Amino acid sequence: ASVTFSEDNSRVTAELPTGESVEVLLYGATVLSWKDAAGDEKLWLSEAAKLDGSRAVRGGIPVVFPVFGTAPDHPQTKSLPQHGFARTSRWEFLGKSTSESMVGRAANELTVKLDFGLSSAAPGLDPTAAASWPFKFNLIYSVTLNRESLTTSIVATNDGAAPFDCQVLMHTYLRVKDITTVEITGLANAPYHDKVDAANPSKTQPASGPLTISAETDRVYTPVEDAVTVTEGGKPKFRVTRDNLSNVVVWNPWTEKAQGIADFAPKDGFRQMLCVEPGAVGAWQSVEGGDAFEGAQTITLLD
Ligand code: BG6
Repeated sequence: ASVTFSEDNSRVTAELPTGESVEVLLYGATVLSWKDAAGDEKLWLSEAAKLDGSRAVRGGIPVVFPVFGTAPDHPQTKSLPQHGFARTSRWEFLGKSTSESMVGRAANELTVKLDFGLSSAAPGLDPTAAASWPFKFNLIYSVTLNRESLTTSIVATNDGAAPFDCQVLMHTYLRVKDITTVEITGLANAPYHDKVDAANPSKTQPASGPLTISAETDRVYTPVEDAVTVTEGGKPKFRVTRDNLSNVVVWNPWTEKAQGIADFAPKDGFRQMLCVEPGAVGAWQSVEGGDAFEGAQTITLLD
């Protein structure tokens, strides 16, 4: 048995012989779908998401680069749109590779990796953004699927002489059945920036007790622990681990914010989603000419 691929001019899909699959839209290199062997979807995608390149995809895993949110006080990036231009550029599919594990429990199991590229010279680069960020760069984004997990990783290389500052984030929309029974652990003692409380944004997560979501939540954590675990109805569901990404954003728009987001549907869909977004966004990553910034997340299925 081998991996099944399909590719057209807008998306790439890969399916393992055991049934797990992933689908990536070239626009934004956005992961649109990740299913387990039973065909259960693991990511939330808005029913009103635009997949035609007219705006960033609402759901799945958009890639945020080179700025998280907007940065009016940072001269290099202040003219960029919210969350940068990676999610609104058309990436190139660079190719696929498969490998087979030889050892342990995963012996004979296949892993498939899909590679995507975007550079400052790419025809698919968002033109408005390109004009606002005049650096030479090359991005490689890889999406790796095996039976237990999905990994997304990015390498952002500075191909020019001048250093640039960047932020990187994987804006993952996890799918849940009922947000009111979801608990998030792995954030104990973590300092965070509460974007919902402008008057008093600097806080610390308590040492004990999980995070639960019962109102609009928009927090930039700097976790002490390596992994964030999402449980639902008391059962572990996802473990999100980070490589060289020191922040995790936890976002749920809840009732009113969801109402105001045009491409968010159904309007009560916030009950079926939770954004857990590993990133390097607390500080600027300064990348010298010839250097690169690398970061990755792995989402492991626990149920
Ligand atoms: C999150 C931010 O990462 O993305 C939120 O912390 C923001 O503040 C959310 O609202 C969605 O952003 P956008 O641009 O996709 O609507």
